[in-house]
Amino acid sequence: MIPDSKNKVTAIAHANIALVKYWGKRDEKLNLPAVGSISLTLQELSTETSVIFDPGLEKDTLVLNGQAAPTRQEQRVSRFLDLIRGESNVGAYANVSSQNNFPTGAGLASSASAFAALALAASRAAGLNLSGRELSILARQGSGSAARSLFGGFVEMHKGISENGSDAYAEPIAPADHWGIRLLICITEEREKAIGSTEGMKRTASTSPYYNEWVDTSPQDMVAMRQAILSRDFTAMGELAEASCLKMHGLAMSAWPGLVYWNGTTVELMQAVREFRKKGKEAYFTIDAGPQVKVLVRDEDAAFFQKELEKWPGVKRIISTTPGPDAQIVENI
Ligand code: PMV
Repeated sequence: MIPDSKNKVTAIAHANIALVKYWGKRDEKLNLPAVGSISLTLQELSTETSVIFDPGLEKDTLVLNGQAAPTRQEQRVSRFLDLIRGESNVGAYANVSSQNNFPTGAGLASSASAFAALALAASRAAGLNLSGRELSILARQGSGSAARSLFGGFVEMHKGISENGSDAYAEPIAPADHWGIRLLICITEEREKAIGSTEGMKRTASTSPYYNEWVDTSPQDMVAMRQAILSRDFTAMGELAEASCLKMHGLAMSAWPGLVYWNGTTVELMQAVREFRKKGKEAYFTIDAGPQVKVLVRDEDAAFFQKELEKWPGVKRIISTTPGPDAQIVENI
């Protein structure tokens, strides 16, 4: 089908947090991960993106949170749209408008929800009706973690082995209502991270003496986490999530020069979470390529932990979120 050239499609996708982390690429051009990963999609953090392909445009444009986006981001989106133009009958440039419901550049992974929403909205606006797997493969080429944000609940990303990336996609393990857990995102710093994930992964893969062990030990983490999720074993899930987080950060620190994404509050919160456990209040932390600490708790303990962690010096605020849904089209006019 050749779509109406002015078809406007809007999609919403939610951010996700990796419980088993992805760090390192086996192919940079196709953005193929060196390891699989498992994530939780987040209800409270979402990106809404509208796309219109318009033959009258002389270039792709990107409006981010109501303002013209920086050139670097606009170019990244334009390269991504080239993939869709390559697969469809559409040659026109596009107007893209994207809105995060959470602060951009606060060290929260916005690329996952952004590229998942863009993949869905832009492919549909270009007349493509892609399956979940095809959308995941497409989104992965914008950002590795975006492949997981197409799906709600608990999601597994396969690293795949094929050279063209046809088996490097995400798929759901269990839906959002599978389990009553919450993530408390403790914001410790509002600035953007110093070293982005792409550069950090590249440096780690080429300089860390532990990189091969990281890749080799990943499959066992995946098996154990899948099992913990399916059996709703909170302790096993939390211990595995903490271990994967520390393994990833240990790896990144062992790069040359070492990558340290934490600040003082990050470390204090990690210790605080472990102290709570000693006192019989169960919670587990995970941290991405930034200083924010994300604390996994059972639903019934969320109010207690939110109150305690809010008091912590250095915690600017907390975003509390339940598991979130699949990415979806919200407008097609
Ligand atoms: O997809 P990227 O380039 O944003 O990399 C994600 C890296 C981590 O957030 C640190 C881990 C993960 O699996 O999400």
